[in-house]
Amino acid sequence: MRIGIVGGGVIGDAHASAISSLKDQKLVAIAEPIERLRDGLAGKYSVPRAYSRWEELVEDNDVDVVYVGVPNDLHAPIAIAAMETGKHVVCEKPLARTVAEGKSMVDKCLATGRKLFIALNHRFVPSNQRVKQMLDNEAIGRPFLARSAFIGNEFARMDDPSNWKGTKEKSGGGVVIDNGTHMIDLLRWWFGDIASVSARCGRLGITAVNKEEDTAAISLEFRNGALAELSLTFAARHSAWPQGYIGAAIRTEIYGVDGSIKVGNDGPALQFVSGSSELVSLEQNEISTGMPASLQEHFADCIRGDAQPIVTVEDGLAALEIVEAAYRSAREGRCVMIEEVREQANR
Ligand SMILES: NC(=O)c1ccc[n+]([C@@H]2O[C@H](COP(=O)([O-])OP(=O)(O)OC[C@H]3O[C@@H](n4cnc5c(N)ncnc54)[C@H](O)[C@@H]3O)[C@@H](O)[C@H]2O)c1
Repeated sequence: MRIGIVGGGVIGDAHASAISSLKDQKLVAIAEPIERLRDGLAGKYSVPRAYSRWEELVEDNDVDVVYVGVPNDLHAPIAIAAMETGKHVVCEKPLARTVAEGKSMVDKCLATGRKLFIALNHRFVPSNQRVKQMLDNEAIGRPFLARSAFIGNEFARMDDPSNWKGTKEKSGGGVVIDNGTHMIDLLRWWFGDIASVSARCGRLGITAVNKEEDTAAISLEFRNGALAELSLTFAARHSAWPQGYIGAAIRTEIYGVDGSIKVGNDGPALQFVSGSSELVSLEQNEISTGMPASLQEHFADCIRGDAQPIVTVEDGLAALEIVEAAYRSAREGRCVMIEEVREQANR
């Protein structure tokens, strides 16, 4: 399978690295306007064709799948153009800046019969997969509360007025649409559909005035009646949490009527108690779920028809509905029902 990657930044490099290690996939083209990054990536991964414009990669007939790893405003135009020229697409999260934009991508996917995937990579983490299996198997009984957090440091990019991160027109919003999308997707995966959202958002640490929220506190109510609290920030420059990717503490606690689960990166990857049993603690390498571990391999299997996606583009769109509801709630100071967002997008 011949792969082209658009965007040679943080995530473009990560996908290039993963794809280069696979036997049955070949990275044949990249598109990146910044020469230094373009040449760097092409050299590092021996990529035969390196374009400065994404349009050239989309027109390249010797590409089967296009990975879209660029600022969010370019997700829809590139994904749509790629599907129109017959390519399958793996799009980075968030699917787009708005539900309406995301829907136009799903419509194009249906019209062209091409496959469109969303790179919600947290679904490929073993501890997150085990949580899904435990909840499906009622290991902690009916879950009724989640406390979830993404406490990160994106100060450099957020505080740079010229960087796309956190600017409305390029990103669609701040931390909520950005890494909040991952946490919202996990909560939907584990608990099911979300019915309503109440949110407060603020630019509380970042000084660049053209940026959207760096911090948010969000309350979610699920259709099954369960509740979740979600704390998000990109402004934790001096966090006491472990220093992983952008210093982010990524953690969720789940309480059920018969037990509880803690999943995250601030200690053992997964801890749980069930009934009166002792606390179980597992590290990531001690968890095997039988579910796909590599996003790049899994989406290739789905394209070949050998697997069903564990995360769909509809999941990407659903996460965007929650994001949009959160922004409306924060703007208008009220609880927003998801139907309201959905109906408006369908008009
Ligand atoms: N799944 C994840 O965990 C994850 C992690 C990081 C980023 N992302 C997503 O990936 C996307 C990119 O984020 P990033 O952190 O890599 O940003 P980045 O700024 O590091 O990289 C983006 C790259 O896109 C390039 N670009 C801009 N305009 C372009 C164009 N017209 N054609 C081709 N390339 C163009 C930029 O020059 C830059 O090198 C975002 O949508 C982000 O949300 C996802």
